[in-house]
Amino acid sequence: MLVSPSLLAADFGNLEREMTWFNASDADLLHLDLMDGIFVPNLSFGFPVLEAVARLCTKPLDAHLMVQRPQDYLPRMLKLPNLRYFNFHVESDCDVTDLLGQVRKAGLPCALTISPDTPVADLRPWLNVLDMVLIMSVYPGFGGQKFIPATLSRVRELKAMAKEAGKEILIEVDGGVNHETSPQLALAGTDILVAGSYVFGSADPAGRVSELKAL
Ligand code: DX5
Ligand code: ZN
Repeated sequence: MLVSPSLLAADFGNLEREMTWFNASDADLLHLDLMDGIFVPNLSFGFPVLEAVARLCTKPLDAHLMVQRPQDYLPRMLKLPNLRYFNFHVESDCDVTDLLGQVRKAGLPCALTISPDTPVADLRPWLNVLDMVLIMSVYPGFGGQKFIPATLSRVRELKAMAKEAGKEILIEVDGGVNHETSPQLALAGTDILVAGSYVFGSADPAGRVSELKAL
C-alpha cells in the first residue's frame, strides 16, 4: 500500500518538527489540501505555507485542490520541484479535458478527484487519459470526519471500469482512514491511502504510517 499522510491534521505551529519525522518515515507522498472557501466551506493554507512545506519535504507532493478554479493554481504549483500529483475535482469550475492536458504537458500524471455524491460513471469521458483517481470517502473540506461506507463499492466500481477499458489507474482514497477502514479499503483495491488525523493525531505518527504501509 502507498501512504499519503495529510498535512491538514499536522501541528501548524511546529511544521518543521512535523516534516522531520515525516521525512524519516515510510510515507510515500505528502498529501496537501488546498481550499478556497468557495468550493468547500473552509480554508487551509495558501502558497506561502505550501512553498515552505515543499522546501522542507524530501518526498513527492500529492496536492489535492478543493478549489473552484484549479486552473488558476496550476502555473504556480508547477514551480514546486517535488510536485507529483495535481489532483483537482471533476466537480470544479474548469474545462477538465483542457486542464488534464496542461497537467500532462507539464510531465505530471493525469489525476482527478471525485466527491462522494458524484457518480463514478461521470469519470468515463477521461478514463483513457487518467493515471490516478482520488475518491473522497468524506465530504471535502474538513479532517476528522467519519468514513462513508459506500466508498468501498465505489472503489470496486472504478476498478471494474478501468479493467474493462484496459487501463491501469491508481486509486487513492481520502477521508476517515483508520485501523478499521484501511483493511477494507485495501481489500476493495485501493492503491494509495490518505490519512490525516489517524497519523498526525497519534503519539507515534511514523508507526501509524508503517502500519498502513504494511496492508
Ligand atoms: C478533507 C481532506 C482530507 C483530510 C483527511 O477534505 O481532503 O485530506 O485531511 O482527514 P482525515 O484523515 O482526518 O479524515
Ligand atoms: Zn485531501
